Amino acid sequence: MFILGIETSCDDTAAAVIEAKGGSKNPSFSVLANVSYSQVAIHKKYGGIVPNLASRAHLQKIFPTIKGALSAAKTKLDDIDLIAVTRGPGLMPSLLIGVNAARALAYKFRKPIFGVNHIEGHIYSNWLKPIREFSILNFQFSKKNLFPALILVVSGGHTELILMRDYGKYKIIGQTLDDAAGECFDKTARLLGLGFPGGPHIAAEAAKFSISNFQFPIKLPRPMINSKDYNFSFSGLKTAVLYSYNDLIRKYSPKEIRPAMAAEIQNAIVDVLITKTIKAAKDLNPKTVMIAGGVSANKMLREKMTEKIGLYNIPLIIPELIYSTDNAAMIAAAGYFSAIGGSAYGEDYLKKKETWKKIEADANLNL
Ligand code: KG4
Ligand code: ZN
Repeated sequence: MFILGIETSCDDTAAAVIEAKGGSKNPSFSVLANVSYSQVAIHKKYGGIVPNLASRAHLQKIFPTIKGALSAAKTKLDDIDLIAVTRGPGLMPSLLIGVNAARALAYKFRKPIFGVNHIEGHIYSNWLKPIREFSILNFQFSKKNLFPALILVVSGGHTELILMRDYGKYKIIGQTLDDAAGECFDKTARLLGLGFPGGPHIAAEAAKFSISNFQFPIKLPRPMINSKDYNFSFSGLKTAVLYSYNDLIRKYSPKEIRPAMAAEIQNAIVDVLITKTIKAAKDLNPKTVMIAGGVSANKMLREKMTEKIGLYNIPLIIPELIYSTDNAAMIAAAGYFSAIGGSAYGEDYLKKKETWKKIEADANLNL
């Protein structure tokens, strides 16, 4: 099955063509094209995403991006069996562009279409390519070895621990009560005068710490790290950074403080994410642990999680770097599971006609 995936939930205009086969027993994917136009250059001067500018840029780039993906995959719309588009959660002005482009194509070319949950897309990024960091040799990537899976989804808008019992069966067991982990990276980077998006900038600045001369020990809080539930909270960390930075800046230059501060921000966020994931893994005894979402691109999180989960002898599954942050290949993969009946929305739309009428953007779509 050839699937065209379309993703415009935030600030990336993305389209991908994948070939999917095997059904839910033995799913396998080849990514034939994965094209993305990043809007970072547009938003960086504002230190965050400006929804109306995002929407306008999506509108300008959506069809060239889709065309680019089809031509890179050497396919035409006629060859496509299914269109999968992110319908939420996300920024409404952004979502509307992708959803309406997908609807127009589905109508014109008489193609079935699926509205995909963006979080479900991130989860399926782990199915795209079998490079995974297993602590167990000869692990078979099959349904019986995978589920129940414990999944930490960490992005700019979400921080959730999800127990996935089967394809399409998700239970959110914990989530952030305020800011998401990615949002915390972005907001603290802004406080330190670093660039946007904050995650990669904090990580790069933190990497300078070991070679910097500034050895003042900065200690930030790890909010809710010992709470009895699986929830998170990151807004207090942001406030602590603000006070600590304002205090230190009276005595030191930003250049001196930033690496140490960035290193401690990264340590604090990663500590909390790992501690909560380990707690859930110990309590719930999943067959696998996965991470997904933009923050899963973080090197320290990947390395520490590999080390810590390894101690419990549970296979850890990590998406390839290019599929960690927003992309349309993961949306196409989630579309496949929708088509074969393994989606949170389950219905077999393939048997119905004119499904373009049914797809609507939903900024607050739940899993
Ligand atoms: O999943 P994603 O691409 O978009 C959303 O669905 O939100 O996640 C974006 C988030 C941003 O907050 C960004 O700062 C963070 O992922 N991020 C990182 C890294 N790369 C992206 N955070 C930490 N370390 C990284 N290397
Ligand atoms: Zn995302």
